Amino acid sequence: MHAVSIWPRGLEVNAVAAKVLAGEGCCLDAIEAALRFSEDDVRDASTGRGGLPNTAGEVELDAGIMFGPTAQAGAVGGLRRTRYAISVARRVMEKTRHLLLVGEGAQEFARAHGFPEFDLATEESRRRWEEWRRKEQASDGKDTMGTIAIDLNGDLGVGVTTSGTPFKLPGRVGDSAIVGAGFYCEQGVGGALATGVGEEAMRVCATHTVVAWMQHGVDPAEACRRTLEKLRKLNADLGEKQLALAALRADGTAGGASLRPGFAYAYWDGAENRLVEVSPLGG
Ligand code: GLY
Repeated sequence: MHAVSIWPRGLEVNAVAAKVLAGEGCCLDAIEAALRFSEDDVRDASTGRGGLPNTAGEVELDAGIMFGPTAQAGAVGGLRRTRYAISVARRVMEKTRHLLLVGEGAQEFARAHGFPEFDLATEESRRRWEEWRRKEQASDGKDTMGTIAIDLNGDLGVGVTTSGTPFKLPGRVGDSAIVGAGFYCEQGVGGALATGVGEEAMRVCATHTVVAWMQHGVDPAEACRRTLEKLRKLNADLGEKQLALAALRADGTAGGASLRPGFAYAYWDGAENRLVEVSPLGG
């Protein structure tokens, strides 16, 4: 059993996943519980309740989940006024023949599946939006929470959830809703997830690329690095943008890479949950 969750705050999130896995829960239950914990955590301004809004002041959520053994995936994009985007993404995977629902359709689907209307804004997120309106400054925000998990059966899954790039245009959907960009896994190979500027992850189908490298025998950290190198080669205009990747191979080996400093991931190896800091590629 293994779990990876991203950013320093991923340590607490990973502990939630570890508890489910240690109790013989399946990988999807571990991922859903971990990411719901993040979505409920108002200290985290990049997911669920308290997530930073778009330019119009509305919080729009993206989330995705994938199950290795069946290669099924589900996702939502631009989901408003709904508490647990990761759970709605899982319902899309399990209860429909579709993979991605967006906007009002996603919201209606959530209502129909028992998710009541919920105000995601907090006093703090409203204050930051007001401040942004006055100054129109981009936020430096760390975005996205994600978890990759392998359960007692060896089943592999991955999930991500985010309120997206802070102060984005209404209707903008990022990598966390796009299989192969923000999240991807293949049973017997491994899983990967992305955080940072979603447009850059989408440009190179980042997480699919990481898993493809692992399939060819490249270790997880190197697979993440090669994917970022490819992005750098294709897009010379990255400026100060951050894109970071984390991966968990089917044998439990984890790794990550990032363009900019500050990225870390939490790694639970079945016994210990610890933070692994990642040196940036820079450039
Ligand atoms: N990586 C999250 C986003 O760009 O929306």
